[in-house]
Amino acid sequence: MKRKYLIAAAGMVAIAMAAAGTRAEMAKIMVENGEKIPQSLTGTPGNAENGRAVVIDRRKGNCLACHMIAEIKDQQFHGEVGPPLDDVGSRMGAGELRLRIVNPKIINPDTIMPAFYRTDGLHRVAKKWQGKTIVSAQEVEDMVAYMLTLKGSYSN
Ligand code: HEC
Repeated sequence: MKRKYLIAAAGMVAIAMAAAGTRAEMAKIMVENGEKIPQSLTGTPGNAENGRAVVIDRRKGNCLACHMIAEIKDQQFHGEVGPPLDDVGSRMGAGELRLRIVNPKIINPDTIMPAFYRTDGLHRVAKKWQGKTIVSAQEVEDMVAYMLTLKGSYSN
């Protein structure tokens, strides 16, 4: 794994995830204490409704392949490989959710969850996706916004 650690500010570690030939928007992503990415990837607030669509989209998030999200009743066959995400918005903040989606291997090197926003060393990703991120930076932000709405309420 080609990761470059730089000490940036107190307690902050910058991981240069940039690789040759990647999207221009993918610059340096600051990972704090190996547990969160505090800053938005784009500076544009996420759109939860679009995030929900990206989560469902089998060519983008495809999160339901592994996770159960009870409020998504219009989709069948939610997976059980990962934990249910119904209350994830009350357990995690935006920074933690962002790191999970960008690259969960920083939290758990053995996880089977794909890294949705890195281009080097992609894990379990079809050849046609290699060298590309699975989702765009704004789609990461949109999914974070959607996850933050999941607070264990099954009402909608
Ligand atoms: C191939 C299966 C797989 C896919 C696809 C997947 N995940 Fe995961 N995810 C996991 C597993 C397994 C875990 C458990 C923690 C670990 O392995 O590190 C997890 C953990 C998580 C967690 C932390 C939950 C907790 O309670 O700690 C979040 C949040 C999450 N995933 C979000 C997503 C989102 C959003 C998507 C779609 C963009 C997604 N996952 C796609 C397998 C998957």
